[in-house]
Amino acid sequence: MILVTGGTGLLGSHLLFDLVSSGKSVRAIKRKTSDTGMAKKIFSYYSDKADELFGKIEWVDADIMDFVAMDDVLEGIDEVFHAGAVVSFYPKDHKAMLKVNIEGTANLVNLCTERKIRKFCYVSSVAVLGRAVNDGVSDETTYWQPSKKNSVYGQSKYGAEREIWRGMEEGLNAYIINPSVILGPGFWGGGNSGLFSLVWKGLKYYTRGINGFVDVRDVAKAMILLMDSDISKERFIVSAENCSYQKIFEYMAKYLGKPAPSINVPNAMTGIAWRVEALRSFIMGTLPEVTKEMATTTTMVYTYSNEKIRKALGFEFRPVEQSIKDFSEFFLKDHK
Ligand SMILES: NC(=O)c1ccc[n+]([C@@H]2O[C@H](COP(=O)([O-])OP(=O)(O)OC[C@H]3O[C@@H](n4cnc5c(N)ncnc54)[C@H](OP(=O)(O)O)[C@@H]3O)[C@@H](O)[C@H]2O)c1
Repeated sequence: MILVTGGTGLLGSHLLFDLVSSGKSVRAIKRKTSDTGMAKKIFSYYSDKADELFGKIEWVDADIMDFVAMDDVLEGIDEVFHAGAVVSFYPKDHKAMLKVNIEGTANLVNLCTERKIRKFCYVSSVAVLGRAVNDGVSDETTYWQPSKKNSVYGQSKYGAEREIWRGMEEGLNAYIINPSVILGPGFWGGGNSGLFSLVWKGLKYYTRGINGFVDVRDVAKAMILLMDSDISKERFIVSAENCSYQKIFEYMAKYLGKPAPSINVPNAMTGIAWRVEALRSFIMGTLPEVTKEMATTTTMVYTYSNEKIRKALGFEFRPVEQSIKDFSEFFLKDHK
């Protein structure tokens, strides 16, 4: 049996869909407070039998911070896909994010090593690659460099990835994937899916930053192919294309039938924007719309090589424009 963490989230729900669609037996954890509604919605984008497929998942309440509960959850499990994490660029989440992402992963590593789980997949991020010193294209050998430019999210994923490497030294049969910015449908209210909503509402501004982008369906597919391969003790960047945010917004505008953002925000202006926003949110007691980390990410140039996974698996990525076209169709159906 397979265990999935993070199954209520964007990536985990797509992974669950692929696993149960191919007839695999799957257990997924959720927290008592979790909402599985969006995961079910994700199934409905891809199948007329969404309810039936979703009903095949064995959901168990457990928090990855709860060592004892996780030990019970692992009973009878052969393979683990660990996609659960706190993903946030809000300062209010920093402390919990570091704790859950690092200590929660350490819990799983220790339990899975002890139980001699057949194979373990950890979902890391390109945020752990040495972006600060590398002006060229980052690959799997571009190691973490301490820098003020590293986000707290990046620090948490780096700490978690180190736990996986430690586990591998202690006998855990694992591999790591490092996705770039994951594009996907459904979670229109926030995260990267929230970019569709911004463009839909008439976003006027863009920044000159460049980043790697990848379709959530390709990330899930790569995870399963690697699980079913002989490959372990390696990490793989999972990124379809390096694109500017301007281009991403242009594609979204094109397929949502909206005007593309046309005003470039110079880097210096984003520095002013997040400071003003921090003050406004402090006074109003609301979440800032732009944080320092968001402003930094969207103005920097980060590029990634996907050569390793393409060679290892013969993997072909969907073009980013195709992904945005498909997800725009889901967005338009959801906003009729
Ligand atoms: N999104 C991206 O662009 C991106 C890029 C690279 C890597 N990644 C990595 O990919 C993975 C999935 O990301 P995502 O975008 O799918 O995130 P997401 O939609 O925010 O989902 C996060 C998942 O983690 C679960 N979770 C959080 N804290 C937990 C805890 N203490 N115990 C158990 N489960 C917990 C959440 O459960 P609840 O429903 O209970 O909150 C949710 O299912 C993460 O590891 C992330 O770091 C994401």
